[in-house]
Amino acid sequence: KKVVLAYSGGLDTSVILKWLQTEYGCEVVTFTADLGQGEELEPARKKAEMFGVKEIFVEDLRETFVKDFVFPMFRANTLYEGQYLLGTSIARPLIAQRQIEIAEMVGADAVAHGATGKGNDQVRFELGYYALKPDVKVIAPWREWDLTSRTKLLAFAEQNQIPVTKDKRGEAPFSVDANLLHSSSEGKILEDPAVAPDEIVFQRTISPEAAPDVATEITIDFHHGDPVALNGETLSPATLLTRLNKLGRDNGIGRLDLVENRFVGMKSRGIYETPGGTILLAAHRNMESITLDREAGHLKDSIMPRYAELIYNGFWFSPERRMLQALIDTSQHSVNGRVRLKLYKGNVICIGRESPNSLYDTRVVTFEEDEGAYNQIDAQGFIKLNALRLRLGGQIGRTGGAL
Ligand code: ARG
Ligand code: SIN
Repeated sequence: KKVVLAYSGGLDTSVILKWLQTEYGCEVVTFTADLGQGEELEPARKKAEMFGVKEIFVEDLRETFVKDFVFPMFRANTLYEGQYLLGTSIARPLIAQRQIEIAEMVGADAVAHGATGKGNDQVRFELGYYALKPDVKVIAPWREWDLTSRTKLLAFAEQNQIPVTKDKRGEAPFSVDANLLHSSSEGKILEDPAVAPDEIVFQRTISPEAAPDVATEITIDFHHGDPVALNGETLSPATLLTRLNKLGRDNGIGRLDLVENRFVGMKSRGIYETPGGTILLAAHRNMESITLDREAGHLKDSIMPRYAELIYNGFWFSPERRMLQALIDTSQHSVNGRVRLKLYKGNVICIGRESPNSLYDTRVVTFEEDEGAYNQIDAQGFIKLNALRLRLGGQIGRTGGAL
């Protein structure tokens, strides 16, 4: 029996590793991914070796993460419940996918993860596993073992010589998940949604108050809806997002304090930091403002909440997500050009946009003489016919839109 474990190298997944070896009696293969969480990965390899793991996978997936997951999602201007940029949600399908690929490679029949039984992440991991390997066996230790408290977990660690450093995993006053797109902080000192988060919660943005009093001006170039250059310099997806994160950090951009609805039914409070993503969202919307046909734009806006919900709920590998993606991608062929932005104390302000595919027509919109491109007389009939049903209603006493 062989199991591929999504292994961070932290205390919790180390306990899981040992538990799988001792209680389940299976051979554990570890998989540790660099998604831009800003942590060293070599310690995870060392630890896995210490546990006698023979097959250890440590992989840098940053480019794939941004190119094949983050950018496709941003083509839709995706926000969950109007605010959340889905930084954790969008990383889970990639981890699940790579875990399954590794399982196939090493001939493992099971996979395991360290998400609890109360959250969204378990759903996202496992829907991914089952979609990609229908017969896979899933082990979710948090739902199965009797280490039901922090105390029991620490005792198990002690008995098994698992180092419990007083680092953030052991003692942090809240739980963190981070990658190139965002950092999320939840739980413990953040559980009361009436209480403001302490400044120590924020790890990748300075506060808007501390940001410079002078605005930073940047340009972002788009090709088929994806950002390809920053200030005229062509960059790879992960490099571009990394640069935007730095700009966002320095200008206090991308903080969010949110109470959201988890898929499993409860409300939870999270503090998010999405510096680069927040800039990118504003830039992309403004690029679309001159390149997308009105109805095309409104149609994709109308499906966006549904698309966001699919990603939040873990249905990345579903037929309906793929169908919506095809619609979204089709709309992006003309989304090319340059957006100019000002970054200032937590704000992203668009100050210019240009495109070879622009639908914006000065000749039509101008307040000056319009050379016959638009005939104002046409507006009279346009308004009259649109008013027809309102007038018919009004004639039988339903004035002002009364029912
Ligand atoms: N609430 C966010 C989401 O569901 C963040 C979850 C954070 N996950 C974690 N393991 N700390 O996407
Ligand atoms: C967890 O429960 O493992 C983290 C929170 C979540 O998945 O929503």
